[in-house]
Amino acid sequence: MNSTATTAIIQTEHLARAFGTVPAVTSLDLAIKRGEMFGLVGPDGAGKSTAIRLLCGILKPTGGHGRILDYDLERQSEQIKARIGYLSQEFTLYGDLTVDENIEFFAEIHGVSDFGRRRNELLEFTRLTPFRRRLAQALSGGMKKKLALACTLIHTPEIIFLDEPSTGVDPVSRGEFWNILSGILDQGVTIFVTTPYLDEAERCHRISLMHHGHLIMTGTPTDVKSAMPGQIYRFDGPAPGPAYEALRRHWPPTHLVRYGDHVRFWTLAGEPEAREASSELERQGLGPVAIRNTPPSLEDAFVALLDSESREGAPS
Ligand SMILES: Nc1ncnc2c1ncn2[C@@H]1O[C@H](COP(=O)(O)OP(=O)(O)O)[C@@H](O)[C@H]1O
Ligand SMILES: [Mg+2]
Repeated sequence: MNSTATTAIIQTEHLARAFGTVPAVTSLDLAIKRGEMFGLVGPDGAGKSTAIRLLCGILKPTGGHGRILDYDLERQSEQIKARIGYLSQEFTLYGDLTVDENIEFFAEIHGVSDFGRRRNELLEFTRLTPFRRRLAQALSGGMKKKLALACTLIHTPEIIFLDEPSTGVDPVSRGEFWNILSGILDQGVTIFVTTPYLDEAERCHRISLMHHGHLIMTGTPTDVKSAMPGQIYRFDGPAPGPAYEALRRHWPPTHLVRYGDHVRFWTLAGEPEAREASSELERQGLGPVAIRNTPPSLEDAFVALLDSESREGAPS
């Protein structure tokens, strides 16, 4: 019997996968509870797709262990596949089939014979009912993603794994997609999602920051922000462009972000260093500069944590 109601439904220890000499995922330790929205966040090449394919039982690990829904990743991947949904980064719909027919196709793949009611529910849920007879190739990018999500959910999986589901989708459709995900969560489905976008990571219960095949930190978005070493200061002055250029001569790019009307400055040393930077600007005739300590964004925290890790020498 499964005991997943009380324990983690996704559990991995040192899970790893190399492709020849390329260590795509070096060590993955995860414990994810039923009903969580969990985000794996990282830049291109971090190992997110490899991690998700390992967790879905599609790729064999080259190291470590994992259990999904209390099934062993290596020995019971068929049982796992029957109870999860996987939306791959390259997921393709059948362009010459209608919305309805695409869902029917995926129902058949999963052996769901009596799918009519479930399909209606999913179309309502993704607001695609008015378009059910339209060919998939004639849908907008956002609508294609929603249809792909409906196909992924047709067999009522307990966990869905979504690999960068909103990459390349416009911001309004992205927002709607994430609202739909929250609705799926309310129905008790556990969601594991990868994203390179920090604003999306903010919407997850917990996230792991991934870089070069391993996890740098796991926690709630608030935990991650409070783990950021150092402080963030906002510099407001008459000439943010030249101010940014002037500061770049003394500080590395990871410490500075240029916005339209201000510069963000990350300092490990805190206020004395921020004051030193603003004095430098005033000496160069780029003042007056008002400095203000501001709470870090998730993006600030991610950049700072990555930078600190590479400084210390990343564990591999
Ligand atoms: N099938 C493969 N063969 C060889 N290298 C691969 C393969 N899949 C991924 N990689 C490499 O593994 C690393 C992680 O890739 P990936 O998991 O796709 O990262 P992400 O999804 O975060 O962009 C990259 O260096 C990538 O080139
Ligand atoms: Mg990927």
